[in-house]
Order: sequence, then structure tokens, then C-alpha cells
Amino acid sequence: MTIGHDVSFAAKLLREGGLVAFPTETVYGLGARADSSVAVRRIFEVKGRPAAHPLIVHICEAADLGSWVASVPEQARILGAAFWPGPLTLVLRRNARVSLEVTGGKDTVAVRVPQHPVALALLQLVELGIAAPSANRFTRVSPTRSEHVESDLGSHIDYILEGGPSEVGIESTIVDLSGTSPMILRPGGVTQEAIEARLGLAVPVAAESETPAPGQHPLHYAPRALVRIVTPEELPTLATGLTEQGQRVGVLTAGPTLPGLPANISVCDIPGDERSYARELYHSLRALDEQGVDIILTCLPHQSGIGLAVRDRLLKAAGPRNQHS
Ligand code: TXA
Ligand code: MG
Repeated sequence: MTIGHDVSFAAKLLREGGLVAFPTETVYGLGARADSSVAVRRIFEVKGRPAAHPLIVHICEAADLGSWVASVPEQARILGAAFWPGPLTLVLRRNARVSLEVTGGKDTVAVRVPQHPVALALLQLVELGIAAPSANRFTRVSPTRSEHVESDLGSHIDYILEGGPSEVGIESTIVDLSGTSPMILRPGGVTQEAIEARLGLAVPVAAESETPAPGQHPLHYAPRALVRIVTPEELPTLATGLTEQGQRVGVLTAGPTLPGLPANISVCDIPGDERSYARELYHSLRALDEQGVDIILTCLPHQSGIGLAVRDRLLKAAGPRNQHS
């Protein structure tokens, strides 16, 4: 496996049924041609992902949507025109051609047009839909740089297409248009507010993504270290107490460093607005892991804009383990 800029080589590998990691504006994807059950099955093997977890089909332009879905409803046209290429995934009734490996046996299919120029160049060259989950091992933090992919999956895949750091940094927003009314299945790079403004109606976030029931959902987006959600008020005391117990503590913050923190902890401060926080979130979690911390203390951002997606990922990273320490 190599990392490189050769889009034609990547397209050739994909056509031959290979596995190619490629950059998108959200996170790096692990791609295989979506029309090959054999190639798609390899994605599940390499990721260690259960077969029932469906994949997103990446396409070159909104006009290609019709080849994957049973019909294109008006709301899909509106959202596609507004946000594609971009960090939005639409779930629609699939058409018969889409393999059950891609959809995890479901009647629906998830489709998106990514915005990254390298992803678009690849899709144009390959002239196929590319099924791609995030290019990390199942339950781990998604990769936003080629070196993240290399360290997670390097020896198991055929090529990593270099595209620099992902601009959005967290996954696409998934909007389910297959039911009676639209629903956000996963908050992401396109905000709920922006989607509601385009559709002219309220689009709720499906309940489970904000409140993962302990023990019921697999641990997603998790670094090796424990992640514990705390309030800014309790953070310094907790950090001090855990350090005194011999734990190596990391703190992930957005904004001014909190006063009263012990000196020997790893602080990862992401300055700037909430877009910067989203962009650096996964990289920061990986960086704290590399520093060997046992536990990461962090506070939740506000629930508006892309903050909603950041909260969702932090809550999932904390997961059921949040109860334990
Ligand atoms: O930003 C992204 O969406 C990235 C880049 C690579 O495009 N991809 C990504 O893929 O995050 P993955 O596999 O890590 O997450 C895809 C999510 C899963 O939660 C899956 O359950 C959901 O999409 N999904 C896929 N097909 C679906 C369907 N037919 N119905 C409901 N959810 C679906
Ligand atoms: Mg993923």
C-alpha cells in the first residue's frame, strides 16, 4: 500500500475491485465500486464492520441520483441543488440495481456527492458509484488526514489517495427522505437550520443520535482513552483529582484555557469558531491518544449550527463508558 496523488491509478484500482481510501471534505472514505458485491464485502472485512451497517454511495453529480434510487422526490431535488457537492447524504428508497451488500439488506440507499476536488476527480474518472464508509476501523475515530488512514488500515488496503486535511472534519449530515416526513439520522456538516430553511419545515433529529442508551449502541467515534463529558465548572477539580490518582489526563477545550488546571496534563485547545472545532475534533482526539492519556475531559458545545454534530460525536465517543469513571 502507498499514499500518493495518482487519481488515475486509484480509479484503475477501483475498477479492478480494489479498496482505495480517498479524501472527502468531511472525512477520508474507504472506497470500493458499489456495483461489486465482492469488492464491497472487502470493506466490511477490513473495517471489522457488521454486515448490517449500510454504506454511503458516492456519486459524481446530483443528476446521477436517479440511477440509485426508485424515484427522486421533490425534497431530494431541493436539498441536492442546495448542498451538493457537499457534506449531505440523502437516504431514499433504493432501486433494484443497488446491491444488498451496500444497503445492509435495507430497502433504502444512502447517497452523497462529496465536495473535495480529489474525490470529484476520482468519481469523474472511475465513472462508477463508489461505496465508502469512513476509512477507520469500526467504532474508532474517523480519519481526517491520510496518515490517520495509514495508521488504522494501512497494510490492508490497496492505495491511499492524498488530499490534505479534511476541511469540514466531521461526517456528512444524513437526511432520511424515505419516510412520510424528512428526518435527520445523523447531524453533520450541513446544519439542521440550513436544511429546515431550504425545505420550509421542521426536520427533527432522530432521537437515538443524541441519547445513546448505555450498553445498547456500539461505541462509535471513540479514541482509546476514556472520554468524559463534564461542565466547565467541575473540570479543574476533576482533572486535579484524577491526576492525583495517577491517571494521565487530557483536556479538550474550545476557547480560552481554563484556569486552575494541574500543570502535568495534556491540553488540546482548539481556537476559533465552532467550524474550527469540528475540523480539528478527530485530529485532536487522535493526538491526545498518541500522548498516551488515560482519560479525556471535555465540555459539550452549544446545540446550534455545527455544534449539534460536534455534541453528537462527543457523546458517542463518551458512550456507555462515560458512566464508568
Ligand atoms: O461524511 C461522510 O458521510 C463519510 C464520507 C466518507 O463520505 N462517510 C461516512 O460513512 O461517514 P460511514 O459508513 O462511516 O457512515 C455512514 C452512515 C452509517 O451510520 C449508516 O448507518 C448510515 O450512514 N446509512 C447508510 N445507509 C443507510 C440507509 N440506507 N439507511 C439509514 N442509514 C444509512
Ligand atoms: Mg464511520
